[in-house]
Order: sequence, then C-alpha cells, then structure tokens
Amino acid sequence: MQRDTIVFDLIRKELERQRHGIELIASENFTSLQVMQAMGNVMTNKYAEGYPGRRYYGGCEIVDQTEQLAIDRLKQIFNIEYANVQPHSGAQANAAVALACLQPGDDILGLDLSMGGHLTHGSAANYSGKLYKAHFYGVKKEDGRVDYEMLEAKAREIKPKMIICGASAYSRDWDYARIRKVADEIGALVMADIAHPAGLIAKGLLNDPFDHCHIVTSTTHKTLRGPRGGIIMMRKDFENPFGLTDNKGNIRLMSNLIDLAVFPGIQGGPLEHVIAAKAIAFGEILSDEYTQYAKQVQTNAQAMAKAFMEKDYQIISGGTDNHLMLIDLRNKNISGKKAEQVLVQADITANKNMVPYDDRSAFVTSGIRFGVAAITTRGMHAEHMQFIVNAIDNVLMNADDAALINKVKSQVNEFMGQFVLYPEMG
Ligand SMILES: Cc1ncc(COP(=O)(O)O)c(C=O)c1O
Repeated sequence: MQRDTIVFDLIRKELERQRHGIELIASENFTSLQVMQAMGNVMTNKYAEGYPGRRYYGGCEIVDQTEQLAIDRLKQIFNIEYANVQPHSGAQANAAVALACLQPGDDILGLDLSMGGHLTHGSAANYSGKLYKAHFYGVKKEDGRVDYEMLEAKAREIKPKMIICGASAYSRDWDYARIRKVADEIGALVMADIAHPAGLIAKGLLNDPFDHCHIVTSTTHKTLRGPRGGIIMMRKDFENPFGLTDNKGNIRLMSNLIDLAVFPGIQGGPLEHVIAAKAIAFGEILSDEYTQYAKQVQTNAQAMAKAFMEKDYQIISGGTDNHLMLIDLRNKNISGKKAEQVLVQADITANKNMVPYDDRSAFVTSGIRFGVAAITTRGMHAEHMQFIVNAIDNVLMNADDAALINKVKSQVNEFMGQFVLYPEMG
C-alpha cells in the first residue's frame, strides 16, 4: 500500500502547531510518547466484545491482560473496587451510566451548561436532555460558586432519580458529602463526572468523590494525561437499592448493570489499542513524577489566576482550586469569540465559554476558559505564567492591531522553543 503522504503531512503540521503554540484549552494535554505509541498498535485489529475472561471472540488472551492491567491500575490509583475502562469517551461513559440507572422520562438534576456544566448532564441538545427530564442547579451570582441551597431545594421538589455533579468550566472543588446527604434524603443516585479534575483527585489534591458518590465517571485525556477515552468507577459495588434491572428483569449488582450498559448497551467492540494506552497512562499516574506534575498543575493555575487578577481580569469565583479558570471579559470590552479568534493568531489556543448569567449566546459568549494541564506537561512552572498572561493581555487589549499580534506570536514561538515537545519525533 502506498504511504498516504497527504494525511502524514497533515499530522506533521499538527505536531508543529502543537510545538510552537501555548496550549491553554483546559480539556487538553500532551500524552507521553509511550501512550501515543500504544495507540498505534496491532491491538486495533482485535475484536474483543465482552470483558476479560468472558469475551464473544477467540484470541483475546493477550488483550485480556492489557485490559485487566488497565482496570487494576485504575483501581489502585483511586482506591476503588470497580472500574470499567471501555468507554470510548467521556460522553460514552456518561451515556452508559444513564442507560444503567435511568428509564426514559426519569428526572435528573445537573449543573446548568451555561453555568459550567456539560452537555451530557441534561442539555436539550444532547441525548441526556432528550431522553430524560432534565433539571438544573446553578452557581451563585455573588460568588460564582455552586448554589448548594438551590441544588437541595430542587432535589427536594423534583426528587430526581439521579443528581449529577462535576463540570467543564468550574474552577472550585465540590462538596460531595453535602450532595449525597440530600440524595439520601430523597432516594437519588449521585454521579460525579470528574473528567476535568481527575488527575488532581487521584493525588489527593481535591476532595475525594468516591466515598459520597455512587458512581464516578471521567475522561482519560484531560488532567489524567492519557489517551482520548472514558472510564466508569465505583469505590464500593452495591446491589442497587432502586430495583434497577437488566433486560431480563433481574436485579443485579451495579457493576453488572454498568458493564452491560457499556457493552452491549451503547458500544460494540472495545478499542483494545486505546485500552493498552490507558494502562500505560495509569501506570504513569502511579509514579512520583506524576504526583509532582499534579501539584505543579495546581500551583501554575493559582499563579496564572493571580497574574490575571493583578491585571483586573474577573475570574469567576475569584480564583481556582483546580487546573482551570473561567474569565468574564465584559469589563475588558471583548467577547469570548473575538478573544479566542485573536489569541489563535498569536498561537495561543483557548476556548470561548459562557460565563454564569451571560447576556451573550453560546456562539459569542462573554468569557474565555484557560487551563494549565498541557503547559505544565510542557515543563512550565509558576514563574512562566506571567509571560503568558502578559502575552494574552497584550493581544486582547490590542485585538485589532495585526502587527502587534504578529509580534506577540513571534515572542510566543520563541518562548515555546524552551519547552521541547516530543524531541524523539525529530
Ligand atoms: C465534565 C465533562 N464530562 C464529559 C466530557 C465528555 O468527554 P468526551 O469529549 O471524551 O466525550 C467532557 C468533555 O469536555 C467534560 O468536560
């Protein structure tokens, strides 16, 4: 077969883009070389419907071992009893939990998308808002923090079958114990989606959701720094108290129901090559080096937030506990959309984001979200945050000055030259 130079040239260009720019998209990171290498391996050729030791295909003895290793390492990271490593993505993980726990028309309660929540937590545009009756809590206008009183009031009024916590654009820690308390009062399940802060939770730098939330989902490619994918976890398995059944009407352990919901519920054959890469990433997370990384992420985020606030940028909630921050740009007279566009011209990548109580649409927005997981992997420390904040401020305050933006771009490219990305790739 002739080598497809068109696609490989594009891949090379993407490598150069990643090398030269400052990556501040909060949901992105740079995997290690070995994680990437594992994703391009012969296990992509293998069909393995089912789970280790109970597959629907022959020849699964080897992929059984990589999948079991991924499961065992993930259990060790979070000190948990149950893990499913097959979801192809975070959205798939959430869909599987919903399929296992809910019936169409059931009430669910999640953080509003416009307040930092995720599409899969009940958005009208998503299956979760189409199949289930979605209700939302928000963040308080005064301090940008989750409005737990509102959450409790809505929970008592609606009595949802499931309360979902976790977010895509929320910089503060969660009070999981408080959510569980009201859930127990009304007989609801609690699902925590820790897609964003999972890496910091893994190292005890944020509250532990596992003791309080029945089920925890995550992506593997954000702070966890693994391949693109999803996972579902429980600290303790349980015979579900809500009479949830499999398709034969049998009440089963929650772990059985979740396994069945992933396959055959919403997915077919697992991506065993990606699961091999997950196993490698989980091994890396167990190392001291990753512990240092997670601490540095938190330090860098706080240093960046401080530098922004010194320049009078309005960070929602006034700071950050995790790896990200959401900035309300209204006092800077620039929309999120325009900010995203001009920053890209200076090789700084971030994404526009609605801020709580935004008066602009999701396509324009008044905010921008920054995260430091990727730049910390590049090797940056707290002292580098000032350069980045200065560069961003320079671009945003001179958004129509093409010459100046071009100058910032050169400075950014030179700055990034210090932080070599994938040197092995030449
Ligand atoms: C909180 C949360 N959950 C789920 C997802 C979905 O993950 P994926 O894009 O892998 O489907 C995201 C992605 O950004 C997220 O932020």
